[in-house]
This record gives sequence, structure tokens and C-alpha cells, in this order.
Amino acid sequence: MRIAIGCDHGGINLKPAIIKALNARGIEHVDFGAYDTSSVDYPDYALKVAEAVSNGECDKGVILCGTGIGIAISANKVKGIRAAVCHDVFTGQMSAEHNDANVIAMGGRIVTPELAADILNAWLDTPFGGGRHERRVDKIKEIEDKYFK
Ligand code: RB5
Repeated sequence: MRIAIGCDHGGINLKPAIIKALNARGIEHVDFGAYDTSSVDYPDYALKVAEAVSNGECDKGVILCGTGIGIAISANKVKGIRAAVCHDVFTGQMSAEHNDANVIAMGGRIVTPELAADILNAWLDTPFGGGRHERRVDKIKEIEDKYFK
């Protein structure tokens, strides 16, 4: 498994904890930046991660901004991306079990680095539920097919 990581200045404080948690699990990562706290535009980093997941270079992605919201909205504009904003362990679990989220977004101004690592682990440890959830995810794909080029 290889995980793409992207962040802006609002989420970069969470990145070391995410990398540490991935290393502890023996999971490879690709860091698409940002690499310092200079003010940058979150859609640029959402796009790098979303494209890496969409084209198969990476299996999943973790995106980080101040709230997780802007970077998730941006990533969800790429076909095939289901980016979920998660701010607690329960939403981390549900994003995997119910939504088959292939990207999680977290907010560096909302969660602590410790909680971000717990959310990441919950998301990675939780399998997709399938069944009725698969039917609903299939309907998300139908919306994509209708509206994406
Ligand atoms: C940057 O100030 C902030 O707007 C960004 O990190 C994010 O919270 C947007 O959703």
C-alpha cells in the first residue's frame, strides 16, 4: 500500500504525526507537499493527491488543511475520488465502512496531531461494509458518470 499526502499551511502541523503513524504500520507514503508553513493554495495540493490516487500511483490519500473542508471539496472534483472530512475516530471508521473513502481530509486547526493519527488508523483498520453501502457508492459513481467529462 502507498499513501499520498498533501497539505497546505493550515494542515502541515498534522503531517509529522501522519507520517509517523504510516511508518509505524510499514506503509509507504509519497509527500506531495507543502513542505513549509508559507501560505499556499489548498486546491494545488488536493489536486496532486487526488490525481495520484485516481491514476493508481497511490492507493489512498491523506489531505490536510485548516479545516479539511477546502482541500476535500477540491479533491472531490477529481473523478473517482471520495474524500471524507473526518474530525473524530467515528467519522474515520464510517468514511471507510459506509463510504469507501479513498481519501481522508483533516483540519490542522481542529484536531490534534495525536487525534489525527488515531483517525488515520481507524480509517485504515476499517474495511468497506459492502452490501447496501456498495449500492450507494455505486450511485455516487453514476452521478460522476452523468456529470464528469
Ligand atoms: C487557509 O487559511 C484555510 O482557508 C485552509 O487551510 C482551509 O481551512 C480551507 O478550507
